[in-house]
Amino acid sequence: MTAEEVTSLCRKLAEYTEEPGHITRTFLSGPMHDVHRELTARMERLGMTVTVDAAGNLRGFYPPRNRAGPRLLIGSHLDTVPRAGAFDGILGVIMGLALVSALDGKRLPFGIEVIGFSEEEGVRFGFPFIGSRALAGSLDASCLERRDANGVSVADSIRSFGLDPARIPEAALPKDVRAYLEFHIEQGPELESRGFPLAVVEQIVGQSRLAFCFTGKAGHAGTTPMRLRQDALAAAAEWIGFVEDHALSVPGLVATVGHIEVEPNAGNVIAGAVRASLDVRHAYDAVRHQAVRHLVEGAQGIAKARRLQAEWEERLNQPAVAMNPGLVNKLSASVKATGFPVFTMPSGAGHDAMILAERVPSAMLFLRSPGGLSHHPNEDVLQADVAAALKAGLHFLENWDGNLD
Ligand code: GLV
Ligand code: MN
Ligand code: MN
Repeated sequence: MTAEEVTSLCRKLAEYTEEPGHITRTFLSGPMHDVHRELTARMERLGMTVTVDAAGNLRGFYPPRNRAGPRLLIGSHLDTVPRAGAFDGILGVIMGLALVSALDGKRLPFGIEVIGFSEEEGVRFGFPFIGSRALAGSLDASCLERRDANGVSVADSIRSFGLDPARIPEAALPKDVRAYLEFHIEQGPELESRGFPLAVVEQIVGQSRLAFCFTGKAGHAGTTPMRLRQDALAAAAEWIGFVEDHALSVPGLVATVGHIEVEPNAGNVIAGAVRASLDVRHAYDAVRHQAVRHLVEGAQGIAKARRLQAEWEERLNQPAVAMNPGLVNKLSASVKATGFPVFTMPSGAGHDAMILAERVPSAMLFLRSPGGLSHHPNEDVLQADVAAALKAGLHFLENWDGNLD
């Protein structure tokens, strides 16, 4: 597959969406069947054995030269945020296929399993990494009971996709896995600003996700005097400003309220309740934890001053994780050998590699994001950068013996 074929396949698969005119594909929604069907056909043509595990991950295996050889995983996710671009996640899966296709039938000392993870974004259940957690063996019963906005549980969504949640333990990493590689767009402006096509990731920052609810009292917008109101939306708005101010005051901290739901959400009704998300990230977990405490206290203080209730629930507390130094060195050597500058950087975005790194040496290669854009319909990647990543990836495959020093 050429770089041009890689990007056009990403764009073609982006047409499988829950929302016509936009790219929205959440965990095990209908269009995921279409993506699986398309990728399965391509994997089989490359001589791979294809399965879908009980967490909905698509897995294609290209065997090693000798049956007992170890296994390299190459993957990323197939789900998207709402109204996404065409490359976040799926590019890493198609890069895996392109690398297998570049081998042109040649077997290596290790097998290659290309994985399209079912869920990384956390959109449908407010909880990310369902696919990679199944491999890491950390998708427990409480995760399966989480419900989406329509009251459907993770377990039920797996059944509706034709899979059996009782078989999730079988999705766990096979014992012969030696390493995990993930190719991904950078999703930020760093590489473009420096004029580099590629970066080797050295660390993925930690992230917290919380759900808040401000409960006040609904009332008539025309008759309720301002001083007697318990306006949940005004409280949430004050708190959102507080979140932004705090993030601006702490170096390296990012904090986002990206989702709110207002009840009853009518122009002439004072809001009775507001549910809001909070996403907090920092390279140092201690700074992130301190920020979360401060932002929770802020919500409590604002609610109290306005005679409202504030409740919150922690949905995710994912520690920062380092990529494997041996694998980072080998990937960097491949970038260098193919004639590109070696640049290392942390990832502010979460990735499946974050979860896999708990169980297996992991590394990531970033491709420059034009305009620094991601989680946006205009997200893009340059074909020359895809060609560069393919070259570096192929060098890695042809020079790795399946072991790490
Ligand atoms: C995944 O894209 C994230 O939110 O970091
Ligand atoms: Mn994403
Ligand atoms: Mn992603």
